[in-house]
Amino acid sequence: MLLHKISDVREQIKAWKKTGLTVGLVPTMGALHDGHKSLIKKSVEKCEKTVVSVFVNPIQFCPGEDLDKYPRTLEADEKLCNDLGADIVFAPSPAEMYGEGHILSNDFLTYVIPPFFYTNKLCGKSRVGHFDGVCTVVNKLFNIVQPDFAFFGKKDMQQLIILKKMVLDLNIPVQIVECPIVREPSGLALSSRNKYLSEEGKKNALAISRLLFNIKSCYNNGINDIKALSETVYSFLDNNHALEYLEFRDRNSLEEKTVADNDTIVFIADRVENVRLIDNIELS
Ligand code: PAF
Repeated sequence: MLLHKISDVREQIKAWKKTGLTVGLVPTMGALHDGHKSLIKKSVEKCEKTVVSVFVNPIQFCPGEDLDKYPRTLEADEKLCNDLGADIVFAPSPAEMYGEGHILSNDFLTYVIPPFFYTNKLCGKSRVGHFDGVCTVVNKLFNIVQPDFAFFGKKDMQQLIILKKMVLDLNIPVQIVECPIVREPSGLALSSRNKYLSEEGKKNALAISRLLFNIKSCYNNGINDIKALSETVYSFLDNNHALEYLEFRDRNSLEEKTVADNDTIVFIADRVENVRLIDNIELS
C-alpha cells in the first residue's frame, strides 16, 4: 500500500497496534538496492507488519550536495517493497514532512541535534549539519510509525552509532536492528550513489573495499600499530582517488584509537569520479 499522508499512516498503524501486531520500520531515501532489500527482508521476517519509508530528506543534504540529482525511483521502489512483502510504502512530500514552505519558513523549527562529539568527525566533518537532519527525520518517522523495530545498515556506521545514542538518550521505545553491509561479489559496498559511477569508476572504487579487507587481514596477522595499518592504503589508492579520511575509531564512542583492537572500526571516505563513497570494516 503506497501512502503519502502522515494521517493515513497513523490510521493504519493504530489499527495494527489495536490487535497487538508488531511493526518494523525500514527508513530509506529510495533508489532501493540489494542492501535495502536485505533490511526489508529482515523486517518482514521479524515483524508482523513492515513499513518502508521512501523520503529524500532535504534537511540532511548540505549546500552543494546532490539533493536535486539524488536518484528518485518510487515506482520501482514500491514494486520491490510489495514483492518482498512490505505492508506500507510511506512516501511523503517535503511539504508533508516539514510544512508548506518546509525548511525555508517558520513551519518547521525543531531539530534533534546529536552530540557534537559524535558529529564533528568522519562524515560530519565535511557534511556539517548532516546528522542533525538525519536524527530529526528519523525521530519524526519514529513518531509517525511508532515501530517496535527499526532496521539500519552498517554501511552508514556513523549514522547507526548516532541513532543508537539518540534512541538511548531520548528513551525512544524502539529497538534498533543492525544489519550487515551488503557487497557486490567484487567487494564494492552497495550504495544508491554507485549509480553515479561509470564502469571504469566502479572498477576504481573496488580499491576501497580491498584496502579495508587488507587492513583486517594485517590485523588478523598480528599488526595492531595504526600507523603501519594506515600506510598500506597508499599501495591501493592511485590518482583516481581523492581520499577524504581513513580513521580507526571505537565502535561505541567513536573515539580515535591509538592501537587497533577488537572494538575498532576502520572508516573510510573517498571520492572516485567526484562521487563520495564511504565504507567501513569491523576488526573484531
Ligand atoms: O540512511 C539513509 O538512507 C538516511 O540517512 C535515512 C536513515 C533514511 C534518513 O533519511
